[in-house]
Amino acid sequence: MRGAASGLAVAGAAALGIDRLADVVSPRVNALAATKLETVKSSLTTTGEQLTAYKDVTSYNNFYEFGVEKNQPSQNAGGLPIRPWTLRVEGKVKSPKTFDIDTLMKLKPLEDRVYRHRCVEAWSMVIPWIGYSLSEFIKQCDPLPSAKYVQFLSYYDRKVEKWTSESTIDWPYSEGLRMDEAMNPLTLLTFGLYGEVLPNQNGAPIRVVVPWKYGFKSAKSIVAVRFVDKQPRTTWNDQNSGEYGFYSNVNPNVDHPRWSQKTERRVGVPFYEQRRTTLMFNGYGEQVASMYNGMDLKRNY
Ligand code: MTE
Repeated sequence: MRGAASGLAVAGAAALGIDRLADVVSPRVNALAATKLETVKSSLTTTGEQLTAYKDVTSYNNFYEFGVEKNQPSQNAGGLPIRPWTLRVEGKVKSPKTFDIDTLMKLKPLEDRVYRHRCVEAWSMVIPWIGYSLSEFIKQCDPLPSAKYVQFLSYYDRKVEKWTSESTIDWPYSEGLRMDEAMNPLTLLTFGLYGEVLPNQNGAPIRVVVPWKYGFKSAKSIVAVRFVDKQPRTTWNDQNSGEYGFYSNVNPNVDHPRWSQKTERRVGVPFYEQRRTTLMFNGYGEQVASMYNGMDLKRNY
C-alpha cells in the first residue's frame, strides 16, 4: 500500500538505532502471547484450505503504527499496552458505554473460524481466527435507527507507536462498514488466532475481521466503535481515494490502478503453488453478495 508513506520507510537494520537493532535480533515478546483460549467450533468456518503457518501469520504483517515493513510490527509492537483495555461505544446509541476487554471475551462463546485473508496488495493467507460475530456485540450496544454505519478506531499513542511519524496518515487508523455489513454473521469481532490470544502485531487485544473485503478494512487494536449516520472517514480512502474505496470488496474484476487483482500470492507455500485465482468476494459471495444487489461494484470499489 505504502501510498504517501513510501520513501519515508526505514530502509533496513543499518538505518536503525542500536536499541532497535537489538529488537531485530531478538524481538520483544508480549506478556499475554500464547495464552490459550477455550473455543467452540464454528459453522461459518472455511474448509478445504491449508492454513498459513503461524510463523508467517505473525511475522508478515501490515500494522503501520509499528512500521511500514512487513517484519516491523512483530519486532516493534511489544510495547502495545494490552491490559487494561477498554472499548468505547459511542455515537448514535441509546447511551454510550464502555466495555472491559475481559468482559467482552466472555460475552459469547469464542468460536474457531478459519477465513481466507486477502490483502489489497495481492497476497493472501488462510488464518484460524478466534472470536464471535460482531452482530452479537452490536446487539448489546443498542444502536438507534439513525445509525447507518459503524466506524472503528484503533489505538493511537505516538509515544508507543513512534513509527506513526514516518507516514502522512491522519491517525488514529479508522475503518468503517455499512450497518448491514457490520451485522453480517461473517464479520468477526476477533480476540485470537491459532487457539491463543492475538499477538500484538495481529491487532491485540481486539480487532475486526471482514473476510470478503481487502484486509485493510479489518482494523486492529480497536478502542472505539462509533455508530454514525453518514459514511465515516476511513484511513486508506483518505490517503488515496482513487486507489482505495470505502467498500473494498475483494473483486478480481476491478484492478487496483497500479496492479491486477485477478490473482494473488498465497504466503508461505512453495513457489509453484503460490499464484491463485482471486475469488469474487474472496469466495464468500453466497453469504454476502445479496447485500450489493443492484449496486455498480466497479464504481463502488
Ligand atoms: N489496522 C491498523 N490499526 N493499522 C494498520 O496498519 N493494516 C491493515 C489491517 N488493519 C492496519 C490495520 C491491513 S493493510 C491489513 S492487510 C491487515 O490489517 C493485516 O492484518 P494481519 O497483519 O493480521 O495479516
